[in-house]
Amino acid sequence: MALERTTSQVLFDNGTHKCISFTSLVKGEGVQANQFLILDNQRAAILDPGGDLTYMPLTMELNKYTKLSNVDYVMASHQDPDIITSMPRWLIYTDATVVASKLWARFLPHLNSAFTSDRMKGNWEQRLLELADGGQRVRLGESEIWALPAHFMHSVGNFQFYDPIAKILFSGDMGASMVDDASQPLTDFQSHIPKMKGFHQRYMCSNKVIRLWVNMVRQLDLDMIVPQHGTPFMGKQQINEFLDWIETLECGIDLFNQNSFRLP
Ligand SMILES: [Fe+2]
Ligand SMILES: [Fe+2]
Repeated sequence: MALERTTSQVLFDNGTHKCISFTSLVKGEGVQANQFLILDNQRAAILDPGGDLTYMPLTMELNKYTKLSNVDYVMASHQDPDIITSMPRWLIYTDATVVASKLWARFLPHLNSAFTSDRMKGNWEQRLLELADGGQRVRLGESEIWALPAHFMHSVGNFQFYDPIAKILFSGDMGASMVDDASQPLTDFQSHIPKMKGFHQRYMCSNKVIRLWVNMVRQLDLDMIVPQHGTPFMGKQQINEFLDWIETLECGIDLFNQNSFRLP
């Protein structure tokens, strides 16, 4: 008999501020993905909630920590199906503001006709916070979430979310790994590399942007980097091991040549 995996992990909790990750809500053929809840003084933000596949199980899990009426934001690192295709449901069933890159904001209404129906509360402009390329700090309860630029890693309009109280960087697809059980802690970085390498080589755009991003991230006070797939990096040592490795990785267009562009 298969053991039931723990559905949620408390990453941080000081009484008034909490970060929770949900690591096993995707069932079936979808790639494993993590969804996140940040709570501050009862106000809530959901990060990268995913698509139809995760909406129901995620809202059931959220109800253990907060009410849907407390959700102020649904924050999307980028536009992918595993990130934000559940958006129509959040717009209909909650009052949350969707936070996303200005590059994607005008494409998102293609997800569903809910945007033109009166089932959606308020109008599209009122329900959307469009992030300019530089990012910004977003007020949540009495805290802030920083939307940090992470463009071309991998989406052209890409953000990561930093929680300065928990000292956690929610890094989207950056640092993602393909593992069976993302609730298991990382013990050995070297043996973790094969679970990340192929993904980053293909899904990240180039080493140039990675190096610029690493320079920015090294300025943050960090206890964890938590990607949207796979295992988090916990503590300064693992964070530095990851940053040192990724900083030198050739990827994306670095690896393309004329052989990649031949007539089939
Ligand atoms: Fe993605
Ligand atoms: Fe992803």
